[in-house]
Amino acid sequence: MIGIIAAMQLELESIKRKIENAREETVSGITYITGSIYSYPVVCAVCGVGKVNAAVCAQTMILKYAPEAIINTGVGGALSKDLKVCDVVVGNSAVQHDFDTSPLGDEKGFVSTVNITHFPLDEALSNKLIASLTFLGIHAKSGVIATGDQFVCDPRVKEEIVSRFDAKACEMEGGAIAHVCFMNNTPCAILRAISDGADDGATLSYQEFAEIAANQSVRALLHFIKTSLA
Ligand code: ADE
Repeated sequence: MIGIIAAMQLELESIKRKIENAREETVSGITYITGSIYSYPVVCAVCGVGKVNAAVCAQTMILKYAPEAIINTGVGGALSKDLKVCDVVVGNSAVQHDFDTSPLGDEKGFVSTVNITHFPLDEALSNKLIASLTFLGIHAKSGVIATGDQFVCDPRVKEEIVSRFDAKACEMEGGAIAHVCFMNNTPCAILRAISDGADDGATLSYQEFAEIAANQSVRALLHFIKTSLA
């Protein structure tokens, strides 16, 4: 069984429509839908926005359904000039850009206890997602995903994240899901379609393009399930 997590309904809607023999179960306010897509078993959930919602969802999904891997799909802000709205970033690692114990001597983003800054993402899974994106003619880049409990819409904040982590996209859940997967030895992948430039124009761009962009990730995910899993 493969696990799919999105933060918002609009990011999962068209995946949900493809699920056959769907069954729902709600735990801690998050609904998990199990069933199959192209005959392959799936568990899908809308986790809500931000790192804590994402972590609760990923941990529950792992304990209840034991997926072989979790894929986080959704939209993100571009941190690189060569990314346009509707392009897709597939993570090669994930950082929590707002995790900061630097006054205690750690580098910013370093998560003590697990003692890691860059949470690993599954290379084989990510390569297959890139292959699906390329097949569909969607411009895809591999890179660092920067996660924080913050909608980035300030060029200075953007620049700080880019210079510190050399990240390609910012969002609000992937790093938490990768963290939970790391703690549970569950392979993880993140794909984020660009809805905005994480700058002054981000709010308007997000409002206009989030839904269209989210569909790019979903198309690739469905193609991946059909060709690599089913
Ligand atoms: N998701 C989509 N755009 C984003 C942004 N600019 N910051 C954080 N999360 C986002």
